[in-house]
Amino acid sequence: MADGPITDAEFEQAGLRLAVDGAVATITLARPERRNALTFSTWRTLARIGDTLPDGVRVVVVRGEGPAFSAGIDLRLFTAEGVPGEDALAPRDEEFIRGLQAGYLWLRRPDIVSVAAVQGHAIGGGFQLALACDLRIVADDVKFAMKEPALGIVPDLTGTKPLVDIVGVPRALELCLTTRTVFADEAARLGLAELVVPVADLGKAVDDLVAAILAVRPSTAAATKRLLRAAPGNTLEEQSAAERREQVALLSEPAGERSA
Ligand code: CAA
Repeated sequence: MADGPITDAEFEQAGLRLAVDGAVATITLARPERRNALTFSTWRTLARIGDTLPDGVRVVVVRGEGPAFSAGIDLRLFTAEGVPGEDALAPRDEEFIRGLQAGYLWLRRPDIVSVAAVQGHAIGGGFQLALACDLRIVADDVKFAMKEPALGIVPDLTGTKPLVDIVGVPRALELCLTTRTVFADEAARLGLAELVVPVADLGKAVDDLVAAILAVRPSTAAATKRLLRAAPGNTLEEQSAAERREQVALLSEPAGERSA
């Protein structure tokens, strides 16, 4: 993996843009003419964005330009011609996939809250990117679909765990093996969206959510995310102990720092 700052050429190859404004970083999938199809460069550059995120960033918004959030993997990778500048999709080992998964995994870090702003199609790797975020605000034209099994592969970009955590094993199995589309009403019902808004209101809805998150003191937000993320794997006793630990640490901070 390359070191140093991400160059314009690397952002271009990845089909990504990054804008950092104080405590908010916005990652834009910026290849609308291909419905923000994803390549190996996209996933590796996402990983580097995570590695190099400036201190002080507390919210990461992931959005897609154009009519779709993302149409998933660039299907040209499955062809003999491939995608210019990208590796061939030859038989690969697990380390190769680990490097791609790193692009999504950091979005769960406790020091940030990640928000996916999703309109239109979010397919395969695009659906998994939305699932990698802590929260999903969706437009009423959203269309989620896990298409990987139709291509003979499994969803391997860290999406199976959040999908099961949110919808349960039977529904996750049904969604993956039928590869059917989940529209906005069902997405809200299943918990795949925290909020559904008209397409034109998506940006404003995300801004409002970001403002609310930023109103909470950073250490409180981080402790809360750590606590809630750990809850499904803990017994009640373990979770109660975790609550005590986090609270005692927060209460030991100077009183003046207890507000945002
Ligand atoms: N890869 C490469 N190019 C894509 C693409 C993709 N996944 N999705 C769309 N495009 C391109 C189209 O080829 C088209 O290019 P041209 O203008 O040169 O013809 C352009 O984007 C616009 O596409 P459409 O005209 O099809 O746009 P639409 O709005 O009518 O439909 C769509 C959008 C429903 C997303 C449709 O394009 C589609 O079904 N795309 C393929 C979706 C798919 O199966 N993705 C793979 C998912 S599995 C996965 O992602 C695995 C993984 O992570 C490892």
